[in-house]
Amino acid sequence: MLNILAISGSLRAASTNSALIAALARNAPPGCRVTAYDGLGRLPIFNPDDEGERTPLEASALIDAVTRADGVIVSCPEYAHGVPGGLKNALDWLVSRDAAVAKPAMLAHASLRSLFARAALAEIMRTMSFVLCEEMLEIALLGKKPPEVEAVLAEPENRQAMRNAVSAFAEFIRAR
Ligand SMILES: Cc1cc2nc3c(=O)[nH]c(=O)nc-3n(C[C@H](O)[C@H](O)[C@H](O)COP(=O)(O)O)c2cc1C
Repeated sequence: MLNILAISGSLRAASTNSALIAALARNAPPGCRVTAYDGLGRLPIFNPDDEGERTPLEASALIDAVTRADGVIVSCPEYAHGVPGGLKNALDWLVSRDAAVAKPAMLAHASLRSLFARAALAEIMRTMSFVLCEEMLEIALLGKKPPEVEAVLAEPENRQAMRNAVSAFAEFIRAR
């Protein structure tokens, strides 16, 4: 069983990225368990002085979860042409560790825009030594309210697209 950690870069209660992550967990193909990370909003702001023995519990929990995972999926919005601070903060806690090194990763997108954030996130994650899968998932949820988001995510072709993307990511992980 592959253990995949899925991280949404949005803290909004009605987040389309978090809804996409939750739907990926529900629609994971056989042989894959996708678990949503829910600690983003509890992470203290990264400070290199707080590494080592001073590492905060929430940061240790994230580092352990990424270390244990066979792969990581990230879905994040774009804020002012960049990666949201909360997600960048989480990634910063992983930089000077082994957790991200050679860890397979895939990006998912709940917006068809966000091209700056996609490029920036890919650059950041490659710099951290994540190994990015070419496959990515894109489902247009931008601007939709939760009931409509859930309706779109329940459409058979979108459920199939989610299963296909996670299956392709699982193959990528197993081939490494
Ligand atoms: C502060 C802020 C800045 C934003 N800047 C951009 C942007 O530069 N480009 C873009 O495509 N969307 C931008 N957006 C729109 C969000 O990316 C979009 O609403 C996204 O779907 C939100 O994701 P969520 O539903 O998971 O919270 C911005 C939204 C906020 C709140």
